[in-house]
Amino acid sequence: MVETIQWTADGVVMIDQTVLPRETKFVTCRDYKEVAVAIKDMIIRGAPAIGVAAAMGVAIGLQKCAPASWREELETICETLARTRPTAVNLFWAIGRMKKLALSLEGRPLDEIRARLIEEAQRVYEEDIAINRAIGANGAGLVPDGKHVLTHCNAGALATAGYGTALGVIRAAVEAGKKIAVLADETRPFLQGARLTAWELQQDGIETKIITDNMAGHFLRSGKIGCVVVGADRIARNGDVANKIGTYSVAVLAKENGVPFYVAAPISTLDLTLTGGEQIPIEERPAAEVTHVFGVAVAPEGIGVENPAFDVTPNRYVTGIITEKGVATAPYEESLPRLAAL
Ligand code: MRU
Repeated sequence: MVETIQWTADGVVMIDQTVLPRETKFVTCRDYKEVAVAIKDMIIRGAPAIGVAAAMGVAIGLQKCAPASWREELETICETLARTRPTAVNLFWAIGRMKKLALSLEGRPLDEIRARLIEEAQRVYEEDIAINRAIGANGAGLVPDGKHVLTHCNAGALATAGYGTALGVIRAAVEAGKKIAVLADETRPFLQGARLTAWELQQDGIETKIITDNMAGHFLRSGKIGCVVVGADRIARNGDVANKIGTYSVAVLAKENGVPFYVAAPISTLDLTLTGGEQIPIEERPAAEVTHVFGVAVAPEGIGVENPAFDVTPNRYVTGIITEKGVATAPYEESLPRLAAL
């Protein structure tokens, strides 16, 4: 399986998701600023992978700071990483976890703090893979046999430390012997579905067909689709789900056609401090992502553009939220805090 991100002696190595699948290129980030740029420019993307990158970013930042001012530098490192992408809560979760550990070690020799931070970042990485396996195991039984599964964006190995959340559920269903095929929304403008989901599922030999985003309604009505499984960037306490732009339309069309709509996400994607999805910050991305495809203009110069990277799906469209601790169902105000506390 593909290595999305790795801690190495040279720095944090990431597969460059801006050029896949045309090129398989790796980028080495040698300091925290390079990690921040990689997150902002989407060399690495997907909520759990962003969390792992941020954890490694804090660890690498502390390796190089001046001994006398490491606490101040820790603040700067954390602030810089936190300013990269606003929607995926895993970013803030991972930064918070690393910062808390560093501060709890105050008074210890700096070399020890540095070593502990590297270990912690690797723990975040390893835990993420284990969590995705558990999400897969909890969700596999929900996937109807002999049908297509529709997914949007990329919530796979590339969006995590490995295995994936939504694609983890699909992988686990296939490993359990289910005969399923995947319909992957291409996911304009960044094409996570056409480029990344298609690439990694093809490598696994899982039958996959790409559709353009505007075909989803047609297929959801056709009776071919057994369920929809998507990932999430942030889930409010009431079960409203922020995920890649276009997810909301898929969820509404799924409900209209009686197709179950599942969200697969780790507990670290829950933001129980928010009572509803309207409080989730939605990232605006550069206009060029919409007006250009691989550097080629597809729209007239000077045209106005809207480019929100995420939308919010209200909880009434969500059949279940598959986590590593179990599957939450409505009422989410009760089920999500209960799962989180386990
Ligand atoms: O803008 P991206 O590519 O980072 O958006 C990714 C998504 O929306 C994913 O569905 C989500 O982060 C879950 S990844 C397991």
